[in-house]
Amino acid sequence: MTRVLVVDDEQSMREFLSILLRRMGFEAETRGDLAGTRAAIAEGEFDLVITDLQMPGGSGIDVLRAVKEVTPDTEVIVITAFATPETAVEAMKQGAYDYITKPFKADHIKVTLRKALEKSALARENRELRRRLEAVEQGGEILGRSPKMEAVYQVLDRVAPTGVTVLVLGESGTGKELVARRLHALSGRTGPFVPVNCSAIPEGLVESELFGHVKGSFTGAIADKPGLFEQAQDGTLFLDEVGELPLHLQPKLLRAVQEGRIKRVGGNQERVVDVRIVSATNRDLKAEVGAGRFREDLYYRLNVVGLEIPPLRDRREDIPLLAHHFLEKYANAFGRPLLGFTREALELLERHAYPGNVRELENVVERAVALETGEYVTPGSLPQPLTHSQPAHSGNLPELPSEGLDLDKLLASVEQRYLDEALRSVAGNKTEAAKLLGITFRSIRYRLQKLGMEE
Ligand SMILES: Nc1ncnc2c1ncn2[C@@H]1O[C@H](COP(=O)(O)OP(=O)(O)OP(=O)(O)O)[C@@H](O)[C@H]1O
Ligand SMILES: [Mg+2]
Repeated sequence: MTRVLVVDDEQSMREFLSILLRRMGFEAETRGDLAGTRAAIAEGEFDLVITDLQMPGGSGIDVLRAVKEVTPDTEVIVITAFATPETAVEAMKQGAYDYITKPFKADHIKVTLRKALEKSALARENRELRRRLEAVEQGGEILGRSPKMEAVYQVLDRVAPTGVTVLVLGESGTGKELVARRLHALSGRTGPFVPVNCSAIPEGLVESELFGHVKGSFTGAIADKPGLFEQAQDGTLFLDEVGELPLHLQPKLLRAVQEGRIKRVGGNQERVVDVRIVSATNRDLKAEVGAGRFREDLYYRLNVVGLEIPPLRDRREDIPLLAHHFLEKYANAFGRPLLGFTREALELLERHAYPGNVRELENVVERAVALETGEYVTPGSLPQPLTHSQPAHSGNLPELPSEGLDLDKLLASVEQRYLDEALRSVAGNKTEAAKLLGITFRSIRYRLQKLGMEE
């Protein structure tokens, strides 16, 4: 319930205002002097304070100061009997929300009241979110308190210290790498966390990257080199996008995971490694097994425990917290002291579908912080897809002409356009462009070759 405190030495005014407030559906309390006011604000927070300026034993300015000192987000409206601009200006300087001159109309004060309450409610919400955020940040870096994420944390906390092999599943940008890092952080293992993106290494080099090589084993192998398995000794090896691992290397990985034994490329000596394996994929690995692109035995070996990270659209409760986290991050980075989001902006953020999940939300907020000129992020600094949500199939696609069309050609031109646009927006970086398009590095390379877009 919204609580409003009325401070006035005149009883008739106190009564008039408290009746008005109660009719508006608010809880009203009244005090007749500064001492009573101090006691009241010390007892509990008010959403709004309305105070007379001229009172015996302390002016409305003192009331204002006292309120702002204890609860800075509580807005204060001052009422002044004489149209003395100096005192009104002084009150505004000291942080009053607005001033009203007696005699006033009930309608006028209602509008001012509503606006002031909206502002203080927004400030309080944003403050509350910031506080929760700080609390969460101290406990770890994965944010989100939705039941779906709580379920993830439960499994995570349980399996992290066991050293068991974990397969992290989830759409792009859901936080799989964060989860993998957390698994390592909670594992108590003394070695390092070594991430490797299986799709970013050229196929011919994957084996030597993972297992190392001996000097002279292939052109360019100018010295003995330990692989990532050896580097992750006593730690965790994170095989990201494991679904992209070439089929012919899968038996070798299986042996390494199963027996903890590896051989460098070109070497004979078998080495024993103690490495915890966490892998991740945004593919349906089970389907890959069915299609013969992923070995079933390796799948079961990696998926001793499967941890599925739900897409952001299935846990929208997490959006405000994440949005505020990113707001703070980029406000600091860009030196822009933003206070939060307007209600409309936050609603738009909460409604969006986020095919790119948390990563997309982060990019949206980063952009908004860069563009916003006011104190709060407004809908105006959010990108089009959020402000003009469209049904999935609209857009400028041509109707199907009666004489038919060449679907392959049409799709190829669409593909080419987006590949082009994505590459341009990341200065030609294929790994980044692939991420933007929600496809793998291998896939973007394949598509570029197919369309003759690659040098
Ligand atoms: N729950 C979360 N709390 C805070 N930040 C998050 C959360 N989830 C994701 N992020 C952030 O979003 C970005 C993407 O997360 P991450 O790289 O872990 O996703 P991913 O699932 O590995 O995506 P991809 O499949 O595209 O590699 C990172 O900047 C990460 O810090
Ligand atoms: Mg990742």
